[in-house]
Amino acid sequence: MDRTNNSAVSEFVFVGLTNSWEIQVLLFLCTSMFYVASMMGNSLIILTVTFDSYLHSPMYFLLANLSFIDLGVSSVTSPKMIYDLFRKRKVISFSGCITQIFFIHIIGGVEMVLLIAMAFDRYVAICKPLHYLTIMSPTMCIFFFIAAWTIGLIHSMVQLAFVINLPFCGPNVLDSFYCDLPRFIKLACTDTYQLEFMVTANSGFISLGSFLILMVSYVFIVVTVRKHSSGASSKALSTLSTHIMVVILFFGPCIFVYTWPHPTSHLDKYLALFDAVLTPFLNSVIYTFRNKDMKVAMRRMCSQFIMYKKIS
Ligand SMILES: *[C@@H]1O[C@H](CO)[C@@H](O)[C@H](O)[C@H]1NC(C)=O
Repeated sequence: MDRTNNSAVSEFVFVGLTNSWEIQVLLFLCTSMFYVASMMGNSLIILTVTFDSYLHSPMYFLLANLSFIDLGVSSVTSPKMIYDLFRKRKVISFSGCITQIFFIHIIGGVEMVLLIAMAFDRYVAICKPLHYLTIMSPTMCIFFFIAAWTIGLIHSMVQLAFVINLPFCGPNVLDSFYCDLPRFIKLACTDTYQLEFMVTANSGFISLGSFLILMVSYVFIVVTVRKHSSGASSKALSTLSTHIMVVILFFGPCIFVYTWPHPTSHLDKYLALFDAVLTPFLNSVIYTFRNKDMKVAMRRMCSQFIMYKKIS
């Protein structure tokens, strides 16, 4: 189908978050700060896990993968948002908009599978410690890695297949600061009821479903840890609480954005901002500052780096 025939829209206009000058300045300072901090924090985690052989275990490989995805989460929407903040006309091309939707859903899908893999990893480590190395073998890690990207890609392409040929005949104002399906679909000049249902079913129930699976498995693990109380259990509980925090931080806004039937309130915009800017930053902070091995490894890496500089 030739899109130019039925589509008069070649670009979309963002309303943005606010018109107030003070809030814009505040948003600019906060979002750029968190953006830079989360890029640095997550890169540091990836470097530490890659170069520190003490951290070459499934848990840290998964963590490094999560950090890599968080680099993507921060970069899909926030640089454009920061760039747009002080511009009068915040526009994005049609293909730019589709690209944002495409990457948001790949990244979201990969992150979900990684979080489930991390929960599985903790389940095996805590409930079947004697079989940990056989179950979480390198093959299993690579399986999770491939599964995450395959599922993310399929999830994203399925969603796009439904919307790529939607007719747009005029309205092109998105009351948001980035392109995503709920508001994008509303602009099409056709009956979109079924498509909206598809988005809720696909993104909404997947996020809600994964969230419930994760919560149930974490509760199960916590109960198991409590039953076999030993010296290791408090460390296990602290690792678990870290994971549970990350899961809630990621899924909370996600579930609201996709299952709330009326994307008209401003709440979902700010929740999306939270997921785009704050969550990747908090992930890196949570995993470094609440994890002793990680802190030790970072210190080790720093001192090696300093020694290396002295020698050369
Ligand atoms: C992601 O996981 C795979 C499989 O374990 C691993 O080989 C790879 O190094 C990880 N990626 C990063 C960025 O650490």
